[in-house]
Amino acid sequence: MRIFVAGASGVLGRAFVRRAVADGHEVVGMTRSARGAAAIIGLAAAAVRADAFDREAVMRVVGAARPDAVVHLLTDLASGDSASNARIRTEGTRNLIDAAKAAGVDRVIAESISWVYPPGTKPASEAEALDSFATEPRLTTIRGVTALEDSVREMPEGVVLRFGQLYGPGTWYAPDGLRADAARAGTLPATQTVTSFVHVEDAAEATLRALRWPARTWNIVDDEPAAATEWVPVFACAVGGPRPVVEAGGDIGRPVSNARARAEGWEMLYPSWRDGFSAR
Ligand SMILES: NC(=O)c1ccc[n+]([C@@H]2O[C@H](COP(=O)([O-])OP(=O)(O)OC[C@H]3O[C@@H](n4cnc5c(N)ncnc54)[C@H](OP(=O)(O)O)[C@@H]3O)[C@@H](O)[C@H]2O)c1
Repeated sequence: MRIFVAGASGVLGRAFVRRAVADGHEVVGMTRSARGAAAIIGLAAAAVRADAFDREAVMRVVGAARPDAVVHLLTDLASGDSASNARIRTEGTRNLIDAAKAAGVDRVIAESISWVYPPGTKPASEAEALDSFATEPRLTTIRGVTALEDSVREMPEGVVLRFGQLYGPGTWYAPDGLRADAARAGTLPATQTVTSFVHVEDAAEATLRALRWPARTWNIVDDEPAAATEWVPVFACAVGGPRPVVEAGGDIGRPVSNARARAEGWEMLYPSWRDGFSAR
């Protein structure tokens, strides 16, 4: 298959491209920078330069790639600002979907997130509506995710992957990442908030398998959603931080169910963050 990957130079993008090339696919990866292009070429894929907000450029590079499928792994987290990430989900996705349509592509696989469900204790399935009653700044994120997912569903074969919090090499949870710094500084709060994680390699494997999965929405999270009271001490220990103080309060969060992807045969290297946090 010829696969066009937007966001190929990112943490998840690189892990996916490596797997796709190893699986025999031809990959064309999109990036804005020479550095990103070098990373993509280093994975035995072709690189093209375009900004997701430059509609003409996106139409041009997707058309020239003549792909069988488009994989959308664009995120904008550089500033840590939910508004810029929402913008790339809305405008960047719009451009990419229109380019895919113009290129006659049916299948688009897109990265979404799993922390979009209303708070609660029952594991959320993909059938549940998103948390549209959220307040800001979460509401901006929910609206961005809604725009992304609605655009993807315009495609004949639109696949939405709602990933848990990515951890592993290159992420915020790597030993040199933001969260590890916070854990070592003792500023990562061990609250009641429930999070679902997924290791970046398991997320990449799900993305590869999704090339052949039915066109629908999939929660891609590990088997063990957990309150921060449980995972922060394990994470702090893995990155050399002190035992955290348990704090009362925190949002309730929401456990997320991976039953649909598990039933489709998705297997993980790290079914739980308990083993994954300390994997090197
Ligand atoms: N995925 C999430 O929603 C999420 C949520 C919370 C935390 N995180 C953390 O974020 C980190 C990175 O995860 P990630 O792989 O999703 O993101 P990433 O490594 O930052 O990759 C982002 C990708 O999007 C591309 N991109 C961004 N803006 C673009 C634009 N305007 N035009 C074209 N390409 C653009 C980048 O390409 P170039 O820069 O090469 O152009 C890059 O390939 C991890 O540390 C993870 O822990 C992720």
